[in-house]
Amino acid sequence: MFKSDVYVKRRDELRRKMKTGLALFIGNIESPMNYPANTYHYRQDSDFLYFFGLDLPGFAGLMDFDSGKDKIFGNDVDMDDIIWMGPQPTVKELALKCGVTSTAPLAKLEESIKEAVSKRRNVHFLPPYRGETKMTLGSIFKENPCQMKTLASTDLIKAVISMRSIKDKSEISEIEKAIEIAYDMHTTAMKMCKPGVKEQDIFGTIEGIALAKGGGTSFPVILSINGQTLHNHAHGNILQKGKMMVTDAGAETNMHYSSDITRTTPVGGKFSSLQKDIYEIVLQTNTEAIKATRPGISNRDLHLMACKNMTIGLKELGLMKGNTDEAVAAGAHALFMPHGLGHMMGLDVHDMEALGENYIGYDTEVKRSDQFGLAFLRFALPYKPGHVFTIEPGCYFIPELIEMWKSENRFKEFINYSKIEKYMSIGGIRIEDNVLITEKGHKLLGKPIPKTVKEIETICM
Ligand code: GLY
Repeated sequence: MFKSDVYVKRRDELRRKMKTGLALFIGNIESPMNYPANTYHYRQDSDFLYFFGLDLPGFAGLMDFDSGKDKIFGNDVDMDDIIWMGPQPTVKELALKCGVTSTAPLAKLEESIKEAVSKRRNVHFLPPYRGETKMTLGSIFKENPCQMKTLASTDLIKAVISMRSIKDKSEISEIEKAIEIAYDMHTTAMKMCKPGVKEQDIFGTIEGIALAKGGGTSFPVILSINGQTLHNHAHGNILQKGKMMVTDAGAETNMHYSSDITRTTPVGGKFSSLQKDIYEIVLQTNTEAIKATRPGISNRDLHLMACKNMTIGLKELGLMKGNTDEAVAAGAHALFMPHGLGHMMGLDVHDMEALGENYIGYDTEVKRSDQFGLAFLRFALPYKPGHVFTIEPGCYFIPELIEMWKSENRFKEFINYSKIEKYMSIGGIRIEDNVLITEKGHKLLGKPIPKTVKEIETICM
C-alpha cells in the first residue's frame, strides 16, 4: 500500500467535500467458490482500497465528518486462525498503516451505526455490488438487502467520483507498471499465435504472467479467433491460418491498479492483404483518436471523430457509402463498431463502474444517447488532466447483426451489404491503448506494445 499520509490526505479531502454526517465503507470479504473454505481469488473493494488501503478481507471503515475521526472495524485473529494462516498483524497495527488510530471489533459496527441513526445523523454508503455486502448493509440498517443499492448516497458517490477520477503521479506510476505486465502478456500472446495452437494455451500462459508479475488479470482475459464476439471468454478453438486473434487483456499491480490493452494478431504472424485492409483502418482510427486526446475535448466528440475515421476507411474499401457525417449521425457505422471508444481506468479496469456509469460519464446536461452503438459509450463528458482512458476502436463482422440489418434494409444508403461477404473471415479487430490526459494534451502510458503491421509481423517471426 501507499504510505499512511496518502490515505489520511484522501480522507481529509473527502471530509472537506462531504462536510457532515458519516460514511461507511465495507471492505470485501472472502467469497466461496464451491464450498465455504474454497474461496475465489480475493479482491478488495476499490473504494475501501482508495481510502483505507488495507488489502485484507473482513474490515470496515467509518468516517465521521463532524468529529473528524475515522475508525477501522475488524477482528484480531485467534489461535485457530494463527494455526491455519500464520501470525497476523493486529487490527491496531493495520489501522496505523492507513493513519487511523481508533479501532473496534466488527461486532461493534452495528452499534455505532445505530447510535448515529438514533441521533438522526446521515450515514452515507456507496452502492453495494456483492451479495455479502448487501446482506451486511441490510442487517446493519434493518432494510431489505436487495434495496440497499437504491439507498446509497448520491452525495458520497459524486464526491468519491470527483476524487478517484483524477489520478496523481503515484497512481499513474502504478498504472504504468500494470501496462508493463500487459506488455509481457501481449508480446507472449503474439509469439504464440501460430496455427495449431489452442486458444486455451495462450490464455493460460498470459494469465500466468499476470499472476507472476502482479495481482493477476484486471478482468477475465478475452482471447479468441472469433473476435466478432466483443467479449469472447470461450478459449476452446485451435488457431487456424487466415484467422485473426483478438487479445483483450490487462493486469493489476499488487496494489490493484489496472491496465487494459487489446491487440489483434493474424494467426501465423503475417497479415494477408484483406486483413491489412481492415487492420490499417482500425489502427489509423486508434492513432488519430490518441493524437486528438486533450483536456476539454469530450469522450463523446472523440468517439464520434473515431466513428467518422472508421467510416471514411470503410467507404474507401467500398463497405460503406454516402455522406460520412450523415452516416455517423444516423448510427450506420455501428454495424461495424457497435461499442464506445473507451472508458476510464484506474483501481477498477472500468473505473468506478460499481458507483453507477451515469454518475461517472454523464451529468445533468450531457445525457446518454439511446442510439444503437452510441448508447454503449460509458463516458461522454470532457476530459480533464489526470483522467486515464482506454482508446479502443474496433471493426467487427458480426454475422447475426449483419444478417438482421440486411434483411431490414437498414441504412442501405450507407452500407454496401453485397461487399461485406468478402471480409467475414476477419471476425473482429480491436486495438486498445491506455492514455493519460495531461495539462496540455495526453501521454500514451507504458512501454509501447507492438501495433503496426510491421511491428506485429516482426515480433511474430
Ligand atoms: N477490455 C475489456 C472491456 O473494456 O470491457
